[in-house]
Amino acid sequence: MGDIEEASQRVGAIVEDLRTFSARQESEKIMVDLADVAGLAVRWVSKSRPEDGAISLSIPEGLMVKGHSGQLTQVVVNLINNALDAAAESGQPEVRVDGGTDGGKTWLSVTDNGPGIPDDRIHQIFDPFYTTKKVGEGTGLGLSISYGLVAEHGGTLEAENLAGGGARFVVSLGQQ
Ligand SMILES: Nc1ncnc2c1ncn2[C@@H]1O[C@H](COP(=O)(O)OP(=O)(O)O)[C@@H](O)[C@H]1O
Ligand SMILES: [Mg+2]
Repeated sequence: MGDIEEASQRVGAIVEDLRTFSARQESEKIMVDLADVAGLAVRWVSKSRPEDGAISLSIPEGLMVKGHSGQLTQVVVNLINNALDAAAESGQPEVRVDGGTDGGKTWLSVTDNGPGIPDDRIHQIFDPFYTTKKVGEGTGLGLSISYGLVAEHGGTLEAENLAGGGARFVVSLGQQ
């Protein structure tokens, strides 16, 4: 019985992840302001999590990229949720969303003060179903879906550990 319960919880969470993803298919790429995308993502996350006070958003207006705003919002929601999960392990959780331009690229990053990613796992975290979370708390799909969505925009999604602890995920998109 325990096994069945656990399996059904996992399937429920997976279906939920895929449903948000598939509901957000949009036909055409348009010019999107990453400041709006990040703002929407933070509002979305705030609705479902009490720790949203830990998030600080500092993105300049007018960070334009060509893309699907719903899909990009989904990516940032996934990254913020992961960052909050990780930061929850520290006494004073902090998550930062930053953005800017750098030599023809537009970037957005989500940084947390959690434990970081173990060095021997950093190449696995983007694999579908790779999760270190408990049943019902993680599906292991967030990063693989996000990776795919960013790639479909011709961009990259990279993870790094920070020298002072914590992790940073950087979405980098071609400037339009
Ligand atoms: N900010 C982060 N800090 C540390 N580990 C992370 C972070 N984001 C993701 N991870 C690791 O990558 C795994 C996969 O993430 P994800 O694909 O979003 O799936 P899920 O969040 O459902 O576990 C997580 O379970 C966690 O082990
Ligand atoms: Mg996740």
